[in-house]
Amino acid sequence: MKSLTTGSLATHESEHDNYKEQSLRGYLRDGTSANHQRVDEQFARFNLNDRHDYISFLSAHARALLPIEAALDQQGAHRIIPEWSARRRSDMLCADLNRLNAEIPPSLAAPQLKSDAQIWGAAYVLEGSKLGGAFLAKGVPDNFPTSFLTPNMAKGSMKLFMDSLDRADVDHPVEALGAAAAVFGLFLQAARLERERLVS
Ligand code: HEM
Repeated sequence: MKSLTTGSLATHESEHDNYKEQSLRGYLRDGTSANHQRVDEQFARFNLNDRHDYISFLSAHARALLPIEAALDQQGAHRIIPEWSARRRSDMLCADLNRLNAEIPPSLAAPQLKSDAQIWGAAYVLEGSKLGGAFLAKGVPDNFPTSFLTPNMAKGSMKLFMDSLDRADVDHPVEALGAAAAVFGLFLQAARLERERLVS
């Protein structure tokens, strides 16, 4: 299976054919693996043992996650995503920043999320990022707040999301891929911004 990246979004027809050969999750995972690698590399540069770095790490997430969750709220994500409101983590992120006496940073501009396909694509990235979060939380000192990295998810909630994603019969899967890539792009932009602020 050809790996799809943001750069190959022009070939809509062949991507749709790829989608038909696999699940929507598989299509999104393959299509954004290079994007994931880039955000992973940027976020791995924060030293989560260090208070300043940890605040920057959370602030980078806030710059991207808050506007995306707000956009998903506005577009009625609850219509199609099971337990959408329980999946949101904006409040946890703000609570952790508050506990660290850090300000909530300004939001970046969220990508357009209008169609159901775009909603699924964006939600896939946010939901998937919880997998990395659980892994990263192990490196955070006990005295730092981690409600964002370790949200109290109902048992089986990730599987429920991924199964629903696979059952979602979206008309234009390429729109889901475009939204997922755009959301990854926003996280990358946020991480770079916070890295620059840390070193300046
Ligand atoms: C240092 C930062 C990160 C690390 C170490 C990391 C690590 C991981 C790991 C280990 C998984 C696979 C877990 C599993 O299969 O059980 C995963 C999945 C995923 N991560 Fe990350 N991640 C990071 C940051 C992010 C960020 C910032 C995002 C998005 C904003 C993200 C989005 C995703 C997505 C969408 C998946 C699911 C892929 C699939 O469909 O299986 N990750 N990550």
